[in-house]
Amino acid sequence: MSPDDLEIWLSHFEYHAQGPRRLPSGLPDRLTPLERRLIASSIATFQLGEQSEGGTLLRAARRFAAAHELPALIRITELFIREEQRHAALLRDFMADHAIPLKTRDWTDRVFRRLRRLAGLELYLHVLICAELIGNVYYRALESATGCQRLKVLCRTLVAEELAHVGFESQLLLAMRARRPALVQVLMRATHRAFFAGTAAIVWVTHGALLRHCGYNARSFLRMCLAQYAFYLEPVEVLLAAARQP
Ligand SMILES: [Fe+2]
Ligand SMILES: [Fe+2]
Repeated sequence: MSPDDLEIWLSHFEYHAQGPRRLPSGLPDRLTPLERRLIASSIATFQLGEQSEGGTLLRAARRFAAAHELPALIRITELFIREEQRHAALLRDFMADHAIPLKTRDWTDRVFRRLRRLAGLELYLHVLICAELIGNVYYRALESATGCQRLKVLCRTLVAEELAHVGFESQLLLAMRARRPALVQVLMRATHRAFFAGTAAIVWVTHGALLRHCGYNARSFLRMCLAQYAFYLEPVEVLLAAARQP
């Protein structure tokens, strides 16, 4: 990614930091007992996933920025972490108002955090973008599962910001990957796609009740997740497939 691209992303994150999206006050905020039962454990897991001090990511970004002379990356990462913390706070406030207990641990969250700590920025982003792409499918499903206006707007707010996150991360990842030898690129792509599909399968198993309620089955959920993956991380393949359409 060029320094000019990074400047564009920096201005995006600065702009949103100056005027963070807020939920309008006074939105109808009624969650039926059935909805609450359906979403409570699931939303708590995603709230936990949004919550991070960001220390590992920031250290990795600092090292990468120093090695590649990309100082803007540090500020972008700080603002990105702040947005994620705001997501966690928005979900936490909603859960508190509806007496939904917070989770302090979850095995899927623990696995993701351990993986992200393993190496540098590139591996961290590979893991993170999987969670965010699947999160976008999940938040859209959650929006459709409820009649609660506050929760609907909350989901839309999260998706709007996550779309920018995955845009930024995918551009950075594809630029990092392009510097590798061709064979390594092929192996990385195949490994990452398999990891992504495995992660989506775990999300299906652990959040299946809610996702089934939204009309998904295992196949359609995986297909939706893989379509998101292809759009951001296999842009050339998506364009070629579109060109082949009659
Ligand atoms: Fe987030
Ligand atoms: Fe995000």
